[in-house]
Amino acid sequence: MPSLMHTLHVELGERTYPVYIGRDLLADSSLLAPHIAGSQVVIVSNETVAPLYVDRVRSALGARQLITEIVLPDGEQYKTLDTLSGIFDRVMADKHSRNTTFVAVGGGVVGDITGFAAACYQRGVNFIQVPTTLLAQVDSSVGGKTGVNHPLGKNMIGAFYQPQAVLIDINTLHTLPARELSAGLAEVVKYGLISDQAFYRWLQESMPRLLACEEAALAEAIERSCAIKAQVVAADEREGGLRAILNLGHTFGHAIETGQGYGKWLHGEAVATGMLLALELSARRGWVAAAEVDGFRELLLGMHLPVRIPDDMDAAMFLRLMAHDKKAVDGRLRLILLRDIGEACIVDDVTEAELSDLFAAR
Ligand code: NAD
Ligand code: GLY
Repeated sequence: MPSLMHTLHVELGERTYPVYIGRDLLADSSLLAPHIAGSQVVIVSNETVAPLYVDRVRSALGARQLITEIVLPDGEQYKTLDTLSGIFDRVMADKHSRNTTFVAVGGGVVGDITGFAAACYQRGVNFIQVPTTLLAQVDSSVGGKTGVNHPLGKNMIGAFYQPQAVLIDINTLHTLPARELSAGLAEVVKYGLISDQAFYRWLQESMPRLLACEEAALAEAIERSCAIKAQVVAADEREGGLRAILNLGHTFGHAIETGQGYGKWLHGEAVATGMLLALELSARRGWVAAAEVDGFRELLLGMHLPVRIPDDMDAAMFLRLMAHDKKAVDGRLRLILLRDIGEACIVDDVTEAELSDLFAAR
């Protein structure tokens, strides 16, 4: 039985859109159908998710003049301009008009590429996000960052393009591998750390229920995460300033992902270790208590997330990789640290010596 548990809005004036969170929502045509303007739809998914969920989305759409189903190969390595071009080939061949709606059914890879396809096709058509990983439900489907990777850099080609609606069916998480669930939970914990201490304490207590995929706990965690993300995006849609706090742990994390080669560590795993480094640095500055760092390490261990930097990465390697991060501004490294649990700050005065000491102590 479909059950809508929470609805919130990303407030962006006339581009404001709803985020629906609940159980069995894929089968609920009353939520999806009103956001589809015309009678043409393009459903984009991948070979893992399509057999599990696309039929339900299709039946919730009802009778339409034209539905094109595109099933992409599974994997970050397919988030490319070539794959994007293949989407346009199908949509053009099927003669979709400007009045078509693109629906992304899958994790962040499918959501990012479909959103970018929607932003480009005929200079922009409607699109809807139906995220099926926890990471996509709490992060990538909300906020309008879309794009593909370039061989020289991740997410380097893209656009800010907001969806018409986000439909989060928590039941899809039952088929998600445990490792992917933990990686998504790392991003959930991030929201507590950057802006809501009470939420962080709740997560510390509720982690066993979340890891067991308990519905009420998951719905609560997703709602609170999306609410924080929606608030940050509404205040700074194009990352002129504040939105950067969503990148806590990401500069360290990207260095690990790049240093290890994409695919070895999941993004959420690298971000988890990166957040621990950010907390340690914050503690060295006297902003966060050492006991909080220990508590956070315990939390990550309980979530089966890595707390050690890879053995083959030293301070020099981190410094080199971090200098290339796209979050560096005019050659100055910009990092997100914590003044306290629940209070992020953006700093650009971290010295090489500070970072070398941090890595040497690990
Ligand atoms: P993903 O899309 O690769 O999904 C992870 C794996 O889970 C894939 O194998 C996928 O096929 C499978 N899967 C998805 N849903 C499933 C389900 N319900 N049951 C079983 N298997 C399922 O990875 P992700 O972690 O969802 O997203 C990572 C991507 O998101 C990266 O490309 C990253 O750059 C991007 N991202 C974007 C933003 C943004 O703001 N746009 C934010 C964070 C991450
Ligand atoms: N994932 C970071 C952002 O959306 O800004």
